[in-house]
Amino acid sequence: MQNFSIHTTTEVVFGRAIEAEIGPRLRALGAQRVLVHFGGGSARASGLLDRVEASLTDAGLTFVELGGVSPNPKLSLVHEGIALCQREGVDWIVAVGGGSVIDSAKGIGMGVATGCDPWTFTTGQALPEATLPIATVLTLAASGSETSNSCVLTNEQTREKRGITSQTNRPRISFLDPENTFTVSKFQTGCGIVDIMMHTIERYLTPQGGESDLTDRLAEGLLIATRDAGRRAIADPCDYEARATLMWAGSVSHNDYTGCGRTRLFPVHKLEHELSAFRDEIAHGAGLSVLFPAWAQYEVERDVPRFAQLAHRVFGVEMDFAQPLRTAREGICTMKRFFEEIGMPVHLGELGIRPSDYQTLAANTLRAANGPVKSYSLLDEQAICAIYRLAE
Ligand code: NZQ
Ligand code: ZN
Repeated sequence: MQNFSIHTTTEVVFGRAIEAEIGPRLRALGAQRVLVHFGGGSARASGLLDRVEASLTDAGLTFVELGGVSPNPKLSLVHEGIALCQREGVDWIVAVGGGSVIDSAKGIGMGVATGCDPWTFTTGQALPEATLPIATVLTLAASGSETSNSCVLTNEQTREKRGITSQTNRPRISFLDPENTFTVSKFQTGCGIVDIMMHTIERYLTPQGGESDLTDRLAEGLLIATRDAGRRAIADPCDYEARATLMWAGSVSHNDYTGCGRTRLFPVHKLEHELSAFRDEIAHGAGLSVLFPAWAQYEVERDVPRFAQLAHRVFGVEMDFAQPLRTAREGICTMKRFFEEIGMPVHLGELGIRPSDYQTLAANTLRAANGPVKSYSLLDEQAICAIYRLAE
């Protein structure tokens, strides 16, 4: 096991109707004037926004609203939010929505508190050292942004999608009511299942870490629970226990617990972000669903024991001790079949990506990574195009 440090600072308030507590809890934390930030309409339509705002008002807090966050959240709205907060003297942000709304709120928070354009932090040369405190009311189990240290924004002018990883990005408090996810479509539920699984698998299938038995068992348990709850939530969107498992799994999968002692590289995410940047309509989870099986086929021979362990322990593939590569490969096929079963795409063509796009996409990926993408091998242009061909 490698040395590590872990500091997951977000307070999580979990369960039915807990958003009624948001006003009193934020007041106790010192909030006075709040930006309520939300997406394209689902939080308004479900009545959640009204409940959150009523709780704030009842607790004596005032607020201003900024809606309209789109999937793959855009830098221009972040700029608008920064100006609004400065004009209105906002001291807290409440993000009501999924990962896109939360990431947009994180961008606004760091912009206000540092006085810098958040985009300047995407190079990684300087990191934000301050933020406005952020509360989240999560409506979609997927990104883990409600507890994570990441913020992923899209610059629509340059068509670049970039992440900012900083301890200051962790929300101060997150309200997780599984009932708020009952209205999530089957497609977005599927995207969420894939994303939750990938946050743990990207920590599990890494070149370094040596023996990490506790981390492995936590990871495997999370993957099994997510797969099983995922099937149930797709079959019955109002299955509270299934939605609750997914919601908690989303947070635990990306708050770092399932990666302690192992290298964090996230190559499939790096490849995926370029797909969503290239075509804005590509949902993050759908891109991962297409790319993971192809990446795994490309890399499997570099770490047969771990791929085979995952296949056996999580996907129930019988261990072939004489030929573990067969077990490893069968595990990848089983995962791909599971993604298909829950309605996710597994071919680039399903995302509207054509072979003539490969070179551009690979070049964009290398530019974002400042060179070859670190994985088991170093993924250069040739390797990335080979992965695309495996994803056809
Ligand atoms: O905008 P509204 O109307 O709310 O609709 C959204 C949106 O169209 C809808 N939705 C959300 N909750 C709903 C609902 N519809 C009905 N009922 C509800 N309760 O779902 C659609 C997708 O929402 P979005 O927030 O984009 O999805 P997700 O939570 O998957 O977030 C994806 C974004 O997070 C980033 C991704 O790259 C992508 O930009 N990520 C952020 C991470 C982080 N900050 O730690 C890590 C991830 O790896 C990921 O990269
Ligand atoms: Zn993700």
